[in-house]
Amino acid sequence: MSSRNARFEPSGPLRGSYTPPADKSISHRAALFGAMADEPVTIRNLLDSADTRSTLDALLKLGAGVEEQGEGSVVIRGVGLHAPLEATGGLLDVGNSGTLMRLLPGWLAGQPGGVWTLDGDESIRRRPVDRVAEPLRAMGAQLEARDGRFAPFTVRGAQLTGIEYRLPVASAQIKSCVLIAGMLASGTTTVSEPTPSRDHTERMLRHARVPFERNGSRMTVAAVDELELEEIVVPGDPSSAAFMVAAAALIGGSRVVVKNVGLNWTRTGFLGIAARMGAVIVGDLEEPGSEAGSEPVGELDVASSPLEGTVVDRDEVPLAIDELTLVALLGAFADGETVLRGAEELRFKESDRISAVVGGLRALGADIEETEDGFVVRGDGSPLPGGTIDSHGDHRLAMLGAVAGIASTKGVDVLGMDAAAVSYPSFERDLRSLLRGD
Ligand code: S3P
Repeated sequence: MSSRNARFEPSGPLRGSYTPPADKSISHRAALFGAMADEPVTIRNLLDSADTRSTLDALLKLGAGVEEQGEGSVVIRGVGLHAPLEATGGLLDVGNSGTLMRLLPGWLAGQPGGVWTLDGDESIRRRPVDRVAEPLRAMGAQLEARDGRFAPFTVRGAQLTGIEYRLPVASAQIKSCVLIAGMLASGTTTVSEPTPSRDHTERMLRHARVPFERNGSRMTVAAVDELELEEIVVPGDPSSAAFMVAAAALIGGSRVVVKNVGLNWTRTGFLGIAARMGAVIVGDLEEPGSEAGSEPVGELDVASSPLEGTVVDRDEVPLAIDELTLVALLGAFADGETVLRGAEELRFKESDRISAVVGGLRALGADIEETEDGFVVRGDGSPLPGGTIDSHGDHRLAMLGAVAGIASTKGVDVLGMDAAAVSYPSFERDLRSLLRGD
């Protein structure tokens, strides 16, 4: 990946109202469900980023049509769930996208006769795929991975049989893969999760009128012939908005109104943690005012305030999984100790996010230690001095570095700022516009 560095000088406050980009998780699912449908599906507010481009490119290779209609609307002309796929095999490049790498095999595994190899960038090649291979194998597909665990990942489709599967970790990606395969498997497929994780796939199954039921932690999907979908509306991404929320919480005098943001409770763990630390966050968190398609959306009003340390435990982890590095950043500026436990999953993200955030924040002057399953960070309520942070090609670390820079006393150089384009291409523009008070 080419690499662009960027410097972020101490600045602020952030002021004004702001609409985050479309949700990445929901966009991947919307495009994939569109491709699995027989009739054209219009997706409103589909995220345009490096990751979602990888999904659209893979779907084009599988024979789907993609028509961009402007203003974020895209029409997908699908090939059908039991796809008379134009291409019955080949190489699919998932780029940097872990979600595509784990969800797409669920569909491909149920196409008898098809053989596909999924591969991606350096980061993808370090992230395990055995966690989706195991249930798909139990359903009847054949899978091969490098060293049994890593991409390139070959999927040989088969007539699948429904299974009952207990997820070994709370992972929405693995859950989604099995549920998608379940639509193509004979009988029913049941998945249970140890603690709740994001439920966008479940909502989309219902939206597409697939026979699906949830009973506590158990979810059951039955075989179906076709999806019934016309339109999917994608709300703003709470994980992208979290960077502006963190910046507004950290920089004195800030006040930011975040509009059209997804407030699905399985995604808002970070807002609760930040509020517990002292950030002022007012919004429709308990009862989001409206729904974008099948997802709750609302507005947040965020202001700065002195922060205090907190403890984040295992149960909270899946609900804030992509924002846990921001908890470390807030902890470094807070008074007292902030502890994260039960988050060993962070080691399998776009980078090993435990060691990358600990090394990165330490280089900016933080008192932070790595533990096997999280970190401990201590602060005295004063800002970090600053320095240089390496994104390790991880979009979320690049954006964290930028927020650290504007909140620091001396500024931060971010190595590999271009990684932000994976989920949030307009991040720097949006941040600078809030700093100008637009
Ligand atoms: C995602 C699930 C999470 C998250 C990732 C997106 C998804 O991963 O970290 O950014 O879209 O389902 P895990 O399922 O591995 O926890």
